[in-house]
Amino acid sequence: MKTRAVVAGLGTYVPEAILTNHDLEKIVDTSDEWIVTRTGIRERHIAREDETTSSMATEASRFALKDAQIEAEDLDFIVCATNTPDTIFPSTAARVQHQLTDKPIPGVDLQAGCTGLIYGMEMASALIQAGSYHNILVIGADKLTSITDYEDRTTAVLFGDAAGAFVLQRKEDTDHGVLSSYLQADGRGGNLLIQPGGGSLMPASKESVENRQHYLKMNGNETFRFAVKALPEAVEEGLKRAGLTVGDMNLLVPHQANLRIIDAAVRRFELDPERVVVNIDRYGNTSVATIPLALQEARMEGRLHDGDVVVLCAFGAGLSWGSNVIRWGK
Ligand code: ACO
Repeated sequence: MKTRAVVAGLGTYVPEAILTNHDLEKIVDTSDEWIVTRTGIRERHIAREDETTSSMATEASRFALKDAQIEAEDLDFIVCATNTPDTIFPSTAARVQHQLTDKPIPGVDLQAGCTGLIYGMEMASALIQAGSYHNILVIGADKLTSITDYEDRTTAVLFGDAAGAFVLQRKEDTDHGVLSSYLQADGRGGNLLIQPGGGSLMPASKESVENRQHYLKMNGNETFRFAVKALPEAVEEGLKRAGLTVGDMNLLVPHQANLRIIDAAVRRFELDPERVVVNIDRYGNTSVATIPLALQEARMEGRLHDGDVVVLCAFGAGLSWGSNVIRWGK
């Protein structure tokens, strides 16, 4: 029994509008058949123009606060993982605080590709265990469609918009909560998944915009090869740090980037599909929001029980990868 960060609340937000594979057939040279067989995606949700990363994050946070039965004023820190902040500064975390309450709350944005949510959970858990914080809001929110090039069929079909939020809460003498985490980043693969324009390396210019440098670029094949190794490594290393093995895992919640990447992990660990959450068919890749979205669905379907060992696992730009091992329950 230890002092740990337990998941006191979970909330999600998905925009209403749906873009199906058939809709995409009218925009780029692709087919429903190609997208389904190569990725597992059938449709994705798309934010309205006036919906932003912070507005989606705020909606998800409201649900998470309600679930935790606390008020925004009870929060003492906000970590917002995102790759598509409303603006580079001010932070999306500060925007969410402002949309939730007039009370100032410290907060930061965290950018670690699609692994950002996993990093956020570990950082919040460590702050809580260090003793200075009680309730931390960990958000994963991205409006990836704002940086998706709808003239590039190799990426246009993959992404959707969404947000998710956890309330992590300090609890003493518990065996529930975040048991361990495994975090990794290796910049040698940085160019495989990159938004080249708009930063200090390539400030926005007429040329950079004309050359479509502000859109996400991905080397799909190389990223795929990296992901099929990174996912099982993160699962095994996270569990090892908690003194557990794959056999102890009740539920795996993997990043939803490609069904074939998830299937490779299922085969490698010889997992019963009942122990793996998959919802990529209806949302596509929503970056840092995939894990809260998938976890929430599993909860709604009654697949999460008190005491279950749940492994959250992601990979993405950086390159980055990692996992959180959580014993479910408050
Ligand atoms: N529709 C039709 N054909 C297409 C499409 C499309 N949308 N996209 C590519 N193709 C074609 C290619 O042009 C190529 O044609 P060619 O053989 O004539 O040259 C053929 O399909 C095969 O292309 P590949 O790139 O080899 O396709 P692959 O099977 O690798 O699938 C994909 C591409 C889906 C991008 C896959 O590589 C992948 O999922 N990669 C990993 C993505 C990932 O995990 N990203 C990390 C997370 S990113 C994040 O979360 C933000």
